[in-house]
Amino acid sequence: MKNDRILIFDTTLRDGEQCPGASMNLREKLEIARQLARLKVDVIEGGFPVISDGDFEAVHTIAKEIKGPIICGLARCVPKDIDAAGEAVKPAGKRGRVHVFLATSKIHREFKLGKAQDEILRLAVDGVKRAKGWVEDVEFSPEDGSRTEPDFLIQVCKAVIAAGATTVNIPDTVGWAVPEQYAALIGQLHAAVPEFRNGKAIISVHCHNDLGLAVANSLAAVRAGARQVECTVNGIGERAGNAALEEIVMALKTRSDFYGGFECGVVAREIVKSSRLVSRMSGLIVQRSKAIVGENAFAHSSGIHQDGILKKRETYEIMDPQEVGWGVTELPLTKHSGRAAVAVRLKHLGFKMTEADVNALFAQFKEIGDKKKFVYDEDLIALVGGHLTEVPETWSLDYLSVTAGNHTVPTATVRLRKAGAKDAAQQEAAIGDGPVDAVVKAMDRITRVRGQLKDYSLRAVSQGEDAMGEVTLKADFGDGELLTGKGASTDVIEASARAYLNAVNRHLSSGRAKPTDLPHP
Ligand code: KIV
Ligand code: ZN
Repeated sequence: MKNDRILIFDTTLRDGEQCPGASMNLREKLEIARQLARLKVDVIEGGFPVISDGDFEAVHTIAKEIKGPIICGLARCVPKDIDAAGEAVKPAGKRGRVHVFLATSKIHREFKLGKAQDEILRLAVDGVKRAKGWVEDVEFSPEDGSRTEPDFLIQVCKAVIAAGATTVNIPDTVGWAVPEQYAALIGQLHAAVPEFRNGKAIISVHCHNDLGLAVANSLAAVRAGARQVECTVNGIGERAGNAALEEIVMALKTRSDFYGGFECGVVAREIVKSSRLVSRMSGLIVQRSKAIVGENAFAHSSGIHQDGILKKRETYEIMDPQEVGWGVTELPLTKHSGRAAVAVRLKHLGFKMTEADVNALFAQFKEIGDKKKFVYDEDLIALVGGHLTEVPETWSLDYLSVTAGNHTVPTATVRLRKAGAKDAAQQEAAIGDGPVDAVVKAMDRITRVRGQLKDYSLRAVSQGEDAMGEVTLKADFGDGELLTGKGASTDVIEASARAYLNAVNRHLSSGRAKPTDLPHP
């Protein structure tokens, strides 16, 4: 392997999904994996196969369907985990990777595992050997590596490489590291372990953002010898998240003068699209001022800056927004556009949709087309967000009427249709603290599910007064997990109704709904 190549290991679907409220189903994960392949990341960590049937299925399906990147499954140093990961990545053949981890720091050894150093070494070696029985490509992570005694960490690296690991990842699991110190640690490992210098193994880094230093730590580590960076799109992940892929990639590209021309194969033009897809699928909104992918990342409001940009873009812009996929607009569709045109545009946007998907989406496209002059790509992507959930539409919205005002008690009348039922349409009315609350209560009466809104956000997805509103919400149905709902419409109450119904349908199909929640046939 060329020594100046930086591998981008994307863990959006594994560590990213560990972010509370970000859980995604198979269809959503598959769409993201397809986009990651277009983005040309080197490795996709698809999940933690032993954790659940859903995670196993996701990694297995991604390994079967996604061509290009290495497909990786995570495992603890436990035979059943390693076997599940090995089995899950099997369809990827030689592109399959098993990633085994075991904590090595003193605090984890003493308080979490109750194991001494020699036992940790033995377990790590056994785990790597077992993974080697499944795949050639084995990665080992000493969890909490940044807080592990350097001498012990060197022993661990040497032992797992001797057992067959070709990548050793040094996680900053709790986001404790600071750049100079983390780089020094990586430099120390690089100097002490010959295989990191002769190309037989590479050092990977995996940084969490608890101190807001995940990207800075990763970049410092690259300069010290790391050749793989683990990151997530939009930086989503446990607690404060992981290093953001788009920031790592664009720092390496934009400051290649400083980073010594390290090569990175990511297709920057796909970054904004990837960010939006992950945001829609995970329900995690990107903050406006987020570097590279936030709405304001390239917005200049000061007159002096605008003037400078007009004279020479580089006066105030270090990157060309088009380079990362901003502003690459296509001709918008209109209400006159036919099903075929919509299907072609969806394909062009990268969505793999069945005829049934397109038909379901086309009906809503027509409604939007009647209300709006132009249907932009952003509008279409927002509609897809609501349809791509693979959530069976147990209930669908048929009719909605709301009255509200400052002297009126908010009242909603809702008619829902139940899939496959004889008396399919059911209607209820309710009052509420506001129009959305009234809609939720009316829907709860029909579906007999009790949900509580925990998080609600509304954003305009395209330009103009008739812009579509996209609602992303989290609802608590009392089963211990916050479920995301997404809905889009030119009417914000209708978008809210669709989003809540999406969360209700997700709950009903989760397998966690109480029997009393489940609709009678
Ligand atoms: O943060 C961490 O330590 C991890 C490991 C499983 C690599 O996510
Ligand atoms: Zn992590």
